[in-house]
Amino acid sequence: MTERRVLLIVGGGVAAYKALELTRLFRKAGVGVRPILTDAGARFVTPLSLSALAEDKVHQDLFGLTDEAHMGHIELSRSADLVVVAPATADLMAKAANGLAGDLASTTLLATDKPVLMAPAMNVRMWLHPATRRNAARLEADGVAMIGPDEGAMACGEFGPGRMAEPDAIFAAAMAMLAPRPRPLAGKHVLVTAGPTAEPIDPVRMITNRSSGKQGYAIAEAAAALGARVTLVTGPTALRTPPGVSRVDVETALQMLTACREALPVDAAVCVAAVADWRPEEAFETKLKKTGEGPPTLRLVENPDILATLAANSPLRPKLVVGFAAETNDLEANARAKLAKKGCDWVVANDVSAEGIMGGDENEVVLVYPQGTDRWPRVSKAEVARRLAARIAEDLA
Ligand code: CTP
Repeated sequence: MTERRVLLIVGGGVAAYKALELTRLFRKAGVGVRPILTDAGARFVTPLSLSALAEDKVHQDLFGLTDEAHMGHIELSRSADLVVVAPATADLMAKAANGLAGDLASTTLLATDKPVLMAPAMNVRMWLHPATRRNAARLEADGVAMIGPDEGAMACGEFGPGRMAEPDAIFAAAMAMLAPRPRPLAGKHVLVTAGPTAEPIDPVRMITNRSSGKQGYAIAEAAAALGARVTLVTGPTALRTPPGVSRVDVETALQMLTACREALPVDAAVCVAAVADWRPEEAFETKLKKTGEGPPTLRLVENPDILATLAANSPLRPKLVVGFAAETNDLEANARAKLAKKGCDWVVANDVSAEGIMGGDENEVVLVYPQGTDRWPRVSKAEVARRLAARIAEDLA
């Protein structure tokens, strides 16, 4: 078996000393560590101690000629199975989120084709600053996995989120990412729609619904975990992008349809989004005012059915199209009717009248397909997602 290898980028922060312990944990587990130390990082730990623990050369300089002769930065960025950034400073996160490449660490992050795990560490105000919030969200949307930061007393004397996760937690997360997994969906492209849509009435008002997006995000995550390339087209939600998933944010049903079309071709499409059936015929450009003549009349027009559009016969029709049905009664019969009406291959129906399903973390579903029906017990939405992803893998195999 070849040795698994981590490229460990150590940024500048008090937490950099924990990178030494992290290195020791990796080496003890037989994982190779190739360290990159930023200039700021070298103010907190010495290249000598990092190199001694890693039992490897420490790379520091983008323009180090000997490094380029032996190993260019592109090769370096791909020489490991996983890139771990610990501590991930606000500066490193900002550079990576914006694709800057002015030094070895940021160039490596831009050039790598390997999964990336970041362990942020910074002052609590820096972590909560809108710029860092934006950068973290963008990195997660790009598929970067994050661990921490933890909350607690900080070296700067403040209290709150910002402390780097402990080395053993970073180690465990990294090992989970390194573990060889069955990847039956490798080479397949899966499209998932999720969340509600928001249909504007005027600049401040809209028609939307209570969909949390949880089930759709869980399905995107489960498909990615099985090796699929996943495009998640999502309406507004409060959820984090699952690791390894490409996320496209939309608001309206029309935007969702366009984004889905742009994602084609795909091998499977799973439509979980709670798309608004109707939208206001026109969205007013300025805020509707009370005129004293009573309430305005809103004319609604029907939105396109994204599921039915994707399932329609066309050269780009995915091999498998899956719809969801939220029903309150006659679950199976309604789901079977929906299967026929929408032209899709499977309908996953859930009984939304049951306590704790809408917006909750559990789901109880039946899977309806032309040849039969499967009833699944009440399990977590994550487990429904894993079962569905496994079924999709079987079907596409
Ligand atoms: N769907 C869609 N585009 C729409 C409406 C629904 O893609 N404009 C998809 C949902 O993502 C989901 C399924 O269709 O997969 C849900 O259908 P539903 O909204 O329940 O169907 P309706 O035809 O509205 O059925 P009903 O009015 O009986 O609830």
